Amino acid sequence: MRIIVGISGASGAVYGVRLLEALRAMADVETHLIVSAWGEYTIANETGKRLEEVKALARFCHDEKDMAARISSGSVLIDAMAVAPCSMKTLAGIASGFSENLIMRAADVCLKERRKLILLTRETPLSAIHLENMLKVTRAGATVMPPSPAFYTKPATIDELIDRTVGRVLDHMGLPVDDLKRWGG
Ligand SMILES: Cc1cc2nc3c(=O)[nH]c(=O)nc-3n(C[C@H](O)[C@H](O)[C@H](O)COP(=O)(O)O)c2cc1C
Repeated sequence: MRIIVGISGASGAVYGVRLLEALRAMADVETHLIVSAWGEYTIANETGKRLEEVKALARFCHDEKDMAARISSGSVLIDAMAVAPCSMKTLAGIASGFSENLIMRAADVCLKERRKLILLTRETPLSAIHLENMLKVTRAGATVMPPSPAFYTKPATIDELIDRTVGRVLDHMGLPVDDLKRWGG
């Protein structure tokens, strides 16, 4: 499978990092990473990881300004894309079809080609503009998946909360998740 991961400058860079780690552990998954300028900032600020360490988790990395990258074209087959986390700016860019950088362009391509696009939107509280943009992208075919922790699994650590959210993203990508705690009734 070929998967695109975008990391934009909302809080929660760790979601993108954990997603890349999970995808890296899977055979036959080719990952393409795009990190926005503010995504770089939050990676450093929130995870303490160097950008190079995060980039090393992906098979291919693309500059957000590189509109000539392979994944900018609908002719390149992509199975799914996740923007994790997705800032309100990136959300707005996707909702309006204003492909200002490669994250927005690749997401736009996913929508026009009817491919899976999962947005881990992160902001709180939400304005009417944010909510309208979420509705717009949902109507266009995206899955808006704010990282909202579930407590019925009784998570003991922050890592557990993060991994559960990442597991749900993998579920939506159609990838196997062995150790995801599911509600058993
Ligand atoms: C530490 C930090 C945390 C931020 N958290 C959020 C957030 O949770 N949600 C959001 O929409 N923007 C957040 N922002 C603002 C975005 O980084 C800013 O709007 C930026 O222009 C987004 O650009 P990008 O989507 O291209 O990464 C944050 C900025 C900083 C510096």
